[in-house]
Amino acid sequence: MEKQKNNDFHLDMITRPRRLRMNPLVRDMVEETALSPKDFIYPMFFCEGEKVRAEVPSMPGIYRQSIDMGLKEIEEALALGVRSVILFGIPDKKDPLGTGSYAPNGIIQRTIAAAKKAFGSDLLVVTDVCLCEYTDHGHCAPVENGVILNDPGVALHCRTALSHVAAGADMVAPSDMMDGRVGAIRETLDEAGFQDIPIMAYSAKYSSAFYGPFRDAADSSPQFGDRRSYQMNPANAEEALREVALDIEEGADIVMVKPALPYLDIIRRVKDTFNMPVAAYNVSGEYSMVKAAARLGWVDNDRVMMESLTAIKRAGASIILTYFAKEAAALLKG
Ligand code: PBG
Repeated sequence: MEKQKNNDFHLDMITRPRRLRMNPLVRDMVEETALSPKDFIYPMFFCEGEKVRAEVPSMPGIYRQSIDMGLKEIEEALALGVRSVILFGIPDKKDPLGTGSYAPNGIIQRTIAAAKKAFGSDLLVVTDVCLCEYTDHGHCAPVENGVILNDPGVALHCRTALSHVAAGADMVAPSDMMDGRVGAIRETLDEAGFQDIPIMAYSAKYSSAFYGPFRDAADSSPQFGDRRSYQMNPANAEEALREVALDIEEGADIVMVKPALPYLDIIRRVKDTFNMPVAAYNVSGEYSMVKAAARLGWVDNDRVMMESLTAIKRAGASIILTYFAKEAAALLKG
């Protein structure tokens, strides 16, 4: 007893993990996961008009903006070292077939063309391929008698993907979760001579409450029912591996897990099983929760942000789609 109170007490112990935590230089030397702005894809929302820049109420720092304003923000992102964006369009009009999604002169097609014209090969333009921002019912495929139709949905997603690539998109990211869409999009792009355009598939996309703020931003909530007949049950992991295997067979170049933080186990299993480039989408709800808690003074925004992004990368995602992209890049720049 007497001895344990004494500061001179030494255990007879060879291994002391704390040796490698004693100062910043040695800590940095043994650091296993390093974030880089190159890892990030910045999601952006584009709407019609000029000089429009409206903050999404549930997503501080994120805007719905017109092309002119959005291009300025892309310039900021590039200056911070963020070299890739994923673009979402918000059309003025919606209809049952989401025709705005594949309109040659639609909001997203014009945004893609303007971004490529302004930034050329300095910017990797990825596009989200989905109908839900463009359909009046808010589902990701056409609907008949309350049933969400898979194959007609795939046909429209093929048209959408082709219209994005024709407008100049560097990569397409189908997020609809209809069966067979990756293969069909691959075939469509190849037939049109776009065999070199990669597909980043939202392969394991869960039916998640964490998309709430995005649906405010993109005005894309389903008007009836929910997405559980196409997006995955959060309780399932084996099924995620089957979904990823299918997308790889169909020609996906990058596979995505979404959301990110509640599904780190899925990210790790996908990485270990397939040895493919894995992307993870740090979704709107994950962002909004940090922003809300930080505003209340309950957590430190910057530290929680960096810890979250590091965790996603450590789990196996080398590509992170995140609304924090600019903020995190600014911190990494120091
Ligand atoms: C479109 C799409 C969604 C998200 C990305 N693409 C919404 C959804 O599936 O409801 C969510 C992104 C986010 O929450 O940040 N299908």
